[in-house]
Parts: sequence; C-alpha cells; structure tokens
Amino acid sequence: MEPSKRFDTRAARPIQRDSFIEEWPETGLRIFPGPADPRPSITIRGGRVVELDGKSEAEFDMLDRFIALRAIDPGVAEEAMSLAPLTLARMLVDINVPRPEIIRLFRGLTPARIVEIVALLNTVEMMMALQKMHARRTPYNQAHVTNRKENPALLAADAAEAVERGFAELETTVGVARYAPFNAMAILIGSQTGRGSALTQCAVEEALSLKLALAGLTTYAETLSVYGTEQAFRDGDDTPWSKSFLAAAYASRGIKVRFTSGTGSEALMGHSEGKSMLYLEARCLMAIRGGGSQGVQNGSISCIALPESLPDGVRGVLAENLIASLLDLELASGNDAMASHSEIRKSAKLMLQFLPGTDFIFSGYSSMPREDNLFGGGNFDTLDIDDYNVLQRDMRVDGGVRPVAREQVMAVRRRAAEAVQAVFRHLGFPEIGDAEVDAAVAALSSADMPQRDVVADLAAAERFLSSGGNSIDIIRALAATGYREIAEKILEVQKLRVSGDFLQTSAVVLPGAQVVSAINDPNDYAGPGTGYRLDGERWREICAIPQAPDPRTIGAGGGAASPILTPLLEAAVSSDAADLVIAVGPAFGAALQSTILGLGHREVLDALLSGIEAEGLRPRIVKIRASSDCGQIGYSGAQLSGSGISIGLQSKGTTVITRRGLPPLNNLELFPQAPNLTLDSYRAIGRNAARYAKSEPVLPVPTQIDNMARLRYIVPTTILHLKETAEVVPSGKPLEMQVVK
Ligand code: 5AD
Ligand code: CA
Repeated sequence: MEPSKRFDTRAARPIQRDSFIEEWPETGLRIFPGPADPRPSITIRGGRVVELDGKSEAEFDMLDRFIALRAIDPGVAEEAMSLAPLTLARMLVDINVPRPEIIRLFRGLTPARIVEIVALLNTVEMMMALQKMHARRTPYNQAHVTNRKENPALLAADAAEAVERGFAELETTVGVARYAPFNAMAILIGSQTGRGSALTQCAVEEALSLKLALAGLTTYAETLSVYGTEQAFRDGDDTPWSKSFLAAAYASRGIKVRFTSGTGSEALMGHSEGKSMLYLEARCLMAIRGGGSQGVQNGSISCIALPESLPDGVRGVLAENLIASLLDLELASGNDAMASHSEIRKSAKLMLQFLPGTDFIFSGYSSMPREDNLFGGGNFDTLDIDDYNVLQRDMRVDGGVRPVAREQVMAVRRRAAEAVQAVFRHLGFPEIGDAEVDAAVAALSSADMPQRDVVADLAAAERFLSSGGNSIDIIRALAATGYREIAEKILEVQKLRVSGDFLQTSAVVLPGAQVVSAINDPNDYAGPGTGYRLDGERWREICAIPQAPDPRTIGAGGGAASPILTPLLEAAVSSDAADLVIAVGPAFGAALQSTILGLGHREVLDALLSGIEAEGLRPRIVKIRASSDCGQIGYSGAQLSGSGISIGLQSKGTTVITRRGLPPLNNLELFPQAPNLTLDSYRAIGRNAARYAKSEPVLPVPTQIDNMARLRYIVPTTILHLKETAEVVPSGKPLEMQVVK
C-alpha cells in the first residue's frame, strides 16, 4: 500500500468507530420500504376495514386486526386513500393546508400509505412538515436522572438541577430493580425543589412501574413498548390490547402515559418479517394511536445505532418522528441513546429535531455525566449543556433549556439533597450523612459518592412500598422537617391527577402547577409570522448565557490611568538618516494602555526602543491622530521618518514595519496577530526596522500561525479597535511624543 499519513490519521478519528453496513432487506436491515413491503390498499365494507395493505381480514395478524379495528377511521379512509400520495406529501409542506386538515386525512390512511407519503419528502421537507405537525406549540425537554450507585442524595440534586435548567420531565431508572421506590422518591423531591416543577417517571418492569405511579411516587409513565410485528410483540409477552389496558390503568388514575417505539427493534429481535423498519414503525404508531395513547417516545430510542448504520438512517428516524406527529401523537423525539462516536455526526442529527421543534426534543437528555446514565445513553450529557445553550442562542431556537448561574444551581442541589436526607431520617430509612449530602452537591459523578449499604437500602425501599407507602408519606415528611415548599408542590401535582388536565395531549406541568398542552397551547404554525416564535422574556433568558459579558466592560480601565506619553510639538519631517519613527495609534498610552494580550504600552515601547537603539539608530515616537488603521499609521510615520522607515503600532498591539514610498497597504513586515507578540517580538521588530534603515540584509521576525487566535480574540480586537477609532481626530496633525518618566 502507498503510505499516507492522512489516511492513517483519519483512520483514528471517532467516526471510524461507528458501525456502517449495506442494506439487507430480507432481514429487515433497510429503512424505507422496498419490494418486500406491502402495497398500500384498503377496502371498507359495512363501515369496517376488511382489507388492509394487501391482506384480507382472514389473513390479518393481531396487529393488522388491532389497526383495522382501532386505528383507522373508516369514515375518512376512502377519501384519504383516494388522494394521490404526492398530493398528500405536498400538503405536508404547504403552509396553506392547516394542521387539523392533515390530522383528519391521516386518520384514514393505512401504514403502507403513510410511509409511502413520508418517503416522498427530503430531509428539509420533513423538517418543514414536523415544524407544522408537532402537537404542542412550545417545545420542552426531558432529562435522564440516574447514577450507577443509585445514590438518593445525588439523584435528588441532579433532578433539582435539571428542572432548574428548564427540563419539564425527568426520567429515572434503576440498576437494581428493588431500588425503584427510592430512586422515584429522590427525583420526585428533586423535581419540586427551587423554582422546579416537572413530571417524573421511573422506567422499570410494567407492574412495578404502575404501582409506583399509583402510589404517587411517579407522575407519568413512558416505557409502554410496542413492536411492529406479532412475534416481536409476543416476545415481550404482550399484545396491543394488553398495552392499551395498561395505558388505560394509568390514565384512569390521572397519570400521564406515553408509549415507546422506534425503528430497528424488530430487526434487532430477529422478527422483522423482512419488512422495512419504517413500515414496521408506522404499524407501531398506529397501534399506539389505536390504544388511545396521547403520545409516544420514538426516534429509534435504544436501537438508534442500527438505523444509523444504514443508508438513509438519520432521515428515516426523522421520518418516524414525523409519522408520530401526523397521527396527532405527542412526540418525544429520541436523541437519548448514544448515536455516534462523532460529535459532528451527533450534532448534525440533533438538528433534525431541534430546528423544527418537537414536543420533547430529547426523550432523555443526560443531566449527569454519561458514565452514570443507566439507559445506555447520554448522547448529550451535562458536560454538553453549555454547548446546547449556545445552540439555542445561535439559531434563536427554543430547545427547552435555559442558562443558569452557578450559585442558583448549587443552591437547588443543596436544598434537594438536604430534603432527601430529612425525608430518609423522618421515615427511618438508612441514614444519609452530612458528608454524603456535601458530596452530592459537589459531585461530578457517582464516583465521587460514598458507597451506601445497598442491602439496607433495598430492604427499606421494599418495606416502604409493600407497607403501602406513598407520596402522602413523603409530603408529610417534607412538611414536618422544614421543606414545606417542596411538600406543597408535590401535593399540587398530585391534585392535578384529579382534574386530569395533564392527561391532555403533550401536557407539561410548569412552575405554579400551570399545565400547558396541545389543548391550551396548540401548534398553530402556518408559515412565517405564525406558530412558536422565540421572543420576549424567554428569548432574553436564552441570550443571557453567563459567559457573555457586556461588551462595554471589555478593555475598560485604561482611560482612568494618566497618559504615558506627552506631546512635545507637531511632528516634522526629519532629514536625519538615523531617524526612525515609531508611529502609534490615537489611543496609545492614553485611552488604552495595554495590548490585547495585556502587555503594557510602556513595556512595548521600551522593547521597540531598545531594539532600535541597539542597532545605533535614533527612534522618535509620533502619535498619529487622523487614523486608527494600522497600515495608515505606519504609512504616516514613514512620511516623517528621516531614514524612511517607520514602525506602525496600534494600541491593541498590531504592528507593521514599512518604508516611505510603499503604499499604505504594502509593507516590509506585518504582524497582524497581536496576541502572538511578546516583548521579545517587539524588540526583534525594533531591531529589524533599524536594519532596514541601514539597508542591511534582514531576516523577517518569525511569526507563529495560530488558527485559533482570531477565534479567541476577535471580540476584544473589535472592542479595542472601536476604542482606538473613537480617539481619531480627522484633522489632527501627527504629534511628536515623549515618554512620561
Ligand atoms: N422500540 C420499542 N421499545 C423501545 N425501547 C427502547 N427502544 C425501543 C424501540 N425501538 C424501550 C425499552 C425499554 C425502554 C428504555 O424503552 O424496551 O423499556
Ligand atoms: Ca425517555
């Protein structure tokens, strides 16, 4: 093989660790429909679906039957199925076709037809469609809160921080199933700390999950998994009917519930029947709608790496998100499980949901470092949160998160950890020590936490649940131990179960027990000027990232000190061949007194002077007042210089060596990257200028190439230049200056 360091270096890049395969349709390793997928068709007889996507009623499997009975409206089926797929596809991106009309028509379509329509859209068209179709107008977000040690104080602190950062739903799970009551309790307390109010869930086995919710230890459920083939469903010991029954059990007690589905699961389980992933996902979504669920988390979820290994995979995942919205389901759109080793690829994929908005852009943003994420997830984690805040600000997109100050975060972390400590004490659970609370407040991850007595914790958790412990016990314990405000908020959410307001599609519970859903905040996007617009208070909140200072405060302070140069007289043209002019900018040594790197102007001048004098020339300092431009400053100096050589020096430190006769934009040497200039560089610049004056051979002063210098310094450069320009006196003559001793 021909050697190539470039290929070798690329081979070590993160993207090479991702898996990529070609399609293999017979095993379901294909995203969009192919020849083996059913052709769309429907026959309605006597008000019922008797034939569906090429299968007669007699051939229906249990999913076909469920979809035919529960998920297709026979009243619109004939109208909708008679429309050309391209006509429907164009309606999706047509701002003149309102969302409700599309929802109405899609109630009459079969899974194969829905996939056929969506497949006609390219990625940007799918994003346009999703922008119009997602259910709730305002986007929110869900966070994962877990840790490997299942430490309750850390769970509570992380939950409180997540809600403080704006997350509207929190999801925990367990390493050891019997920890579930404690984990649920910890995030419940954390979720109502500080300004917080969020719904919480604990993803565990279905019966236990239901039990926790009925006891009020969680307030929503999400992981009612469905699959697109009968066999995959059976492996999960379920049917669409059993799942629907479970969903109804939650809803009957005022508990929000959404299902989980997503491309890839059937192929992964070996039960794809050779059908494309998207066709099977369309069946899942119809089963979910047929089951009466208000919503779904999809976007491949735990299987994401499988569609991402295939061509069209990321577009396919967007397509499945879009189908959920077309079926009028609340959409929590994935981005939770690890999707790539490549930060570029992860961020690019995120944009497909982030830009159009969904109901929950993440169905689990890892609010702790990914090493603590028990969902096998953490595609984005707490260490990425500042990046995420910047993305919102960059694109004026509401990604459901807000920047918060450190003190604010630390305060809620402490309050939540101490509240859990108090509840544990009050209810006689194993002690959470003060040091453990301190560790939870300050931790990076559970590696910073002491090991708890797991056996004792598990026994206490089991005892609590089996003895009928519930949220009322927690509310009482909080109220009795000085955490009344948390107790009241938990009670507030429990009371909402009675009104059922948060059973509406896409509901979130915001601070003040305010319920926002697709009922009181419906997505009304209909083109420019409509739909959700990021404005007002929320936009100001997103703009105010803590690392963005007021630019008026940058480079301040120079003006207060007394000038380091005093004018002698108007500068004249010298006829002394040893005369060399150092021409400085209008703010030099006065309104500004140090370079962008913080080198004092006095020290910079000393370095230049010593470099020049060492070569036997006589430097003269001249202040140029009519321009702040580096080239012009050097040029003006050269016109006065007896040797014809001048050094032009802007206050921010940018320097040029030039000679009379050269035009303003030409020069002998230019040092545009002031941040790389040290006092040694200035001395060398003085020396070189002198050697030019003596017509000696000169080796240019070496300059570093720093690709990041402009990125790091462009803001201070701009501001220092603004300040220099403010000192310009257009008619001001050059002044000869003397250094103040
Ligand atoms: N389809 C169905 N269920 C899924 N889950 C994750 N990914 C999928 C998918 N593609 C479920 C898991 C678990 C929870 C984390 O979500 O079964 O219950
Ligand atoms: Ca989730």
